[in-house]
Amino acid sequence: MDASAQTPYLPLAGRRILLGVCGGIAAYKSVMLLRLLTQAGAQVQVLMTEAAHAFVGPATFAALSGRPVLTDFTQGRTGQWNNHVELGLWANALVIAPATAATLAKAATGQSDSLLLATYLSARCPVLWCPAMDLDMYAHPAVQANLNTLAGFGNLVLAAADGPLASGLTGQGRLPEPEEIFEAIRGLVCTKPAWQGKRILLTAGPTREPLDPVRYIGNFSSGKMGYALAHEAAARGAEVTLVSGPTDHTVQSHRITRIDVTSAHQMADACLQAASESQVWIFCAAVADYRPEQVSETKTKKTGNGWNISLVENVDIAATLGKQKQPGQLSIGFALESGLGQAEAAAKLERKNLDLICLNSLDQPGGSPLGADDNQYLLLGKGGKQTPLARNAKAALAAQILDEVEKLF
Ligand code: C5P
Repeated sequence: MDASAQTPYLPLAGRRILLGVCGGIAAYKSVMLLRLLTQAGAQVQVLMTEAAHAFVGPATFAALSGRPVLTDFTQGRTGQWNNHVELGLWANALVIAPATAATLAKAATGQSDSLLLATYLSARCPVLWCPAMDLDMYAHPAVQANLNTLAGFGNLVLAAADGPLASGLTGQGRLPEPEEIFEAIRGLVCTKPAWQGKRILLTAGPTREPLDPVRYIGNFSSGKMGYALAHEAAARGAEVTLVSGPTDHTVQSHRITRIDVTSAHQMADACLQAASESQVWIFCAAVADYRPEQVSETKTKKTGNGWNISLVENVDIAATLGKQKQPGQLSIGFALESGLGQAEAAAKLERKNLDLICLNSLDQPGGSPLGADDNQYLLLGKGGKQTPLARNAKAALAAQILDEVEKLF
């Protein structure tokens, strides 16, 4: 399939988000958040407090959201009323980012002297608070008490991040990065009952098999597909244990617990620990099939005679766990093959006791999928069921694969 024919992946299509922006320096990050939301297909209505206007111009938010920004209860002297009740009912989620100490305090005590606060009191949708302020303000018991009060109302509170602050001080108080807030919003508006509370064990990335203190045998896996699956499962409401080989990716969702490993042996140990409590296992990692038989404790010196390395086979994590799979547990594997590879993938499905295997090829038109942004799959299920997934972004494919997994629940 031609890349231009891909369906754009819009995980927030049809979702309506109210983005409340308060008067703090972190308001500049809300612009990026708005961009992420609209690019993901969400409709966004921005509500700025009066104080926020001192930090970012409303035209920026209006242009990016395609809607006038709302701040006041009425529009000038036109008599037009910005109906906070309608706004509250319209939204699938209300996000306040950044939330200042003043707005938090007012919300915690039910005050409604701004359109944003009145909308908060009227909203029936999930609410996400993203506080941002200087470290001593953030740590103050009064602010923490207000955050606890809001959490007690059933609102989600995203903890402020640690790091350099606009004041020059360093500590907890930063607005989390827009990507993290975006994932938290996805987690509010994309939950699916089938996934809520399910525990997923997911492997991702490459493994490295050491030869000596400075060298290893590895592979070109980037971890992109595994991390896309982890975030998609988390957005649907699952609790994900992500056992990750070395990658450049970061976890953006509070529903993902990442366990960093290096070698296949370490990955196997981490998986064995988490397997019994997980209902779905997804083996997306490119686990090294072999490791050097000898690992030198010192750096191996050049001799001028070449270097013969003897390799021994690593444990097959999917196959090992496949032997202890219980009724109600699902195991999903991947197969990267040269050529078509259907017979090989079908044999792996059987041998590793998988319920679904996602076959992708090194010889597909787009070239090797390792490290690429796009891929295409043929999903093979039990009983010979085949589901082709056309070439698409890995994030889109992650959603399609989880749709197929969901059919197996
Ligand atoms: O046999 P092959 O490596 O092609 O199988 C690929 C599938 O098995 C993937 O799902 C991969 O994550 C998993 N696997 C594993 N442990 C290994 C090798 C592969 O879990 N040692």
